[in-house]
Order: sequence, then C-alpha cells, then structure tokens
Amino acid sequence: MTTPKITAAITAVGGFVPEDKLTNADLEKMVDTNDEWIRTRTGISERRILKGDGLGTSDMVAPAVLQLCEKRGIHPDEIDCLIVATVTPDMVFPATANLVCDKIGAKNAWSYDVSAACSGFLYALTQGTALIESGRYKKVVVCGADKMSAIIDYEDRATCIIFGDGAGAVLLEPNEEGYGVLDSILRSDGSGSQYLHMKAGGSKKPATIETIKAKEHFVFQEGKAVFKFAVKGMADVSAELLERNNLTGDDIDWLVPHQANLRIIDATAERIGLPKEKVMVNIHKYGNTTAGTIPLCLWEWKNKLNKGDHLVLAAFGGGFTWGATLVKWQY
Ligand code: UT7
Repeated sequence: MTTPKITAAITAVGGFVPEDKLTNADLEKMVDTNDEWIRTRTGISERRILKGDGLGTSDMVAPAVLQLCEKRGIHPDEIDCLIVATVTPDMVFPATANLVCDKIGAKNAWSYDVSAACSGFLYALTQGTALIESGRYKKVVVCGADKMSAIIDYEDRATCIIFGDGAGAVLLEPNEEGYGVLDSILRSDGSGSQYLHMKAGGSKKPATIETIKAKEHFVFQEGKAVFKFAVKGMADVSAELLERNNLTGDDIDWLVPHQANLRIIDATAERIGLPKEKVMVNIHKYGNTTAGTIPLCLWEWKNKLNKGDHLVLAAFGGGFTWGATLVKWQY
C-alpha cells in the first residue's frame, strides 16, 4: 500500500485592516493630484492607515492570527511555526514574527520573517507548504502584512497615492485528499532593485542626519518601469503555471492577484483567459498593502469560496520578485 502524498491545505483565514481611511479627496489636499487621475491610473479610491504611537506591523498581524485561531478552534500554542512576510518589520531585528508569537501566546512556535516585498506572501506560502509536506509540522501560519504608511513620503505624489496598511494570515495543515497548495513558480531578479527600493537605513547606507534630510528612508519607485515589468512578469508566470499543470483559464475559479494597479490585474486576467467576475479585486478600498494584498483578498472572499475551487495567486514586486501559486480550496 502506498502512503498518500501530504499536501498543505489552507484551513482558516484571518485578516486585519486599520479603521482610519485615507481617501483620494484627502490626498488632493496633501499633494498635486486628483481623484480622477488616481482612479483611472490605479483603480484606488481609499486606503487604510494604522495610526497610533508605537503601533507597528505586528499589531495588525496579531489580531489577524487570533481571528484565524478562533475560526479553526485552536489555541495559539498549537501553532508549530509562524512566518511573516513583510518589508515593514516593527524593527530591523528581532523578526516581527517573533513579536507576533509573543503577543498572541504562540509559545511553542518557531518564527521568522521573509523579505520579498509584494511577492512576500507567495514566498512564505511556498516555504510553509514545504514544512507541512515534509511531515514534520502540523500547523504552520503564513502571514503577509505591511504598514506601508511608515515608509511613504506623503509629499511624493508618485508613491503616496498607491500604498496602504493591512495584514492577512492563513493556517496550513496536512491533507491527504489532494487539497491545498498544488504548485508554485517563484522568481527573483535583483537587477530590478534600481527601479524600486529604499535608499538608506540598511547596512550599505545607515541612517544619518543627511539621509533623513534627503528623504532616503521612503519608498523610491520608477512607476512606469516597474509597471512594464509587472504586467509581463505576473501574466507570464501565471500562464506558465497553468500550462505546466495542463490547465486553462476554464479550469480556474478565481484569480487572486497582488493589488498594485488595476491595469496590471486586468492584463493578467486577460492573459490567462479569466473574466472579471472570477478576479478578486479590493484595490479600490485598500490600495497596495504590499505583502498583505493576497491574504486580504482570501480573507474577504472566503465565504464565496467552495471546496474544490481552483485558485491562482499571482504577484509581482520589489526585488524584483514575482510568482504564481495554484491552490485547491479545502473548505
Ligand atoms: O506593488 C509593487 C510593484 N509596483 C507596481 O506594480 C506599480 C507599477 N506602476 C504603476 O502602477 C504606475 O506606473 C503608477 C500608478 C505608479 C503611475 O502611473 P503611470 O500611468 O505609469 O503614470 P506616469 O508615472 O507615467 O505619469 C504620467 C503623468 C506624468 O505627467 P506628464 O509627465 O505626463 O505631464 C506624471 O507627472 O502623470 C503625472 N502623475 C500624476 N498626476 C496626478 C504622476 N503621479 C501623479 C499623481 N497625480 N499622483
């Protein structure tokens, strides 16, 4: 008798968005922009901002994970491993994941952060999947979260209109019936760093009075260049994922795209032949929450998903990093 293959099924989803909204009308008062430009060029109407002294990314991840535990009926101390994908950790070290575990009482988990910008959730999901498939771990929590408002220059109209704050998390558990993460293609190309990065604050250029005055601790993005790479990267990798699994758009129930720009989302959907009704889009409400976008979509759509649905999760972002993941929904 052969032992059935263990797959990593998503068995619960949690999410958190801060209450405070930053609308296009608010931004019109801050920089030279207008609601019509923002909506037609990006699809965004408002974003959520985490306000309050001393609050960081872990303060959004912790409630998302607690929600997920409650839904699944488990105590946080049952979690074996917790991974947080983020580019806005609470501190450079220790890892935000360590802080989250402390906040929620996940006393038996080992935990670490993944830095892969907008593709961070897919990178972390692939790692979490491997941990489950190995047979060694039974409950792995994968989170994607960013407090982008902490690294945005609200005088730079090229970036401040895009980003928002938010967190999402999924629980992975072993499955022997073929549900869960079925395949994943991940890519990276560091030569793309020139188009999307933060200039100072790392070991290459530590913080000084000069770096602060020069506004080098904020997101720098050459939007047009990133846009071109993103449209091609996200669509190509999604098409490749379908092809190597002998699937077409007709076999896919949902596209779960990174929410960077509605035009990039539309191009990816068109490339793999999915109509708009099968594409999760919430960019109008939350903007680009970097590693948070994909799990926040799953959180919002979870009640519309059916057991056996096939999902393609796709992302492109800083690094460059990009990828696509195929999931068969378990509940
Ligand atoms: O998630 C991480 C990965 N990031 C992405 O995937 C983002 C990819 N890039 C984008 O989404 C788009 O490039 C942006 C939304 C960032 C910008 O849109 P765009 O259509 O590429 O605009 P652009 O930068 O080419 O600018 C077009 C015009 C320029 O004016 P001129 O030179 O044509 O007179 C800009 O100065 O729009 C102007 N502009 C603005 N106008 C009003 C740029 N930003 C704004 C603004 N409001 N906020």
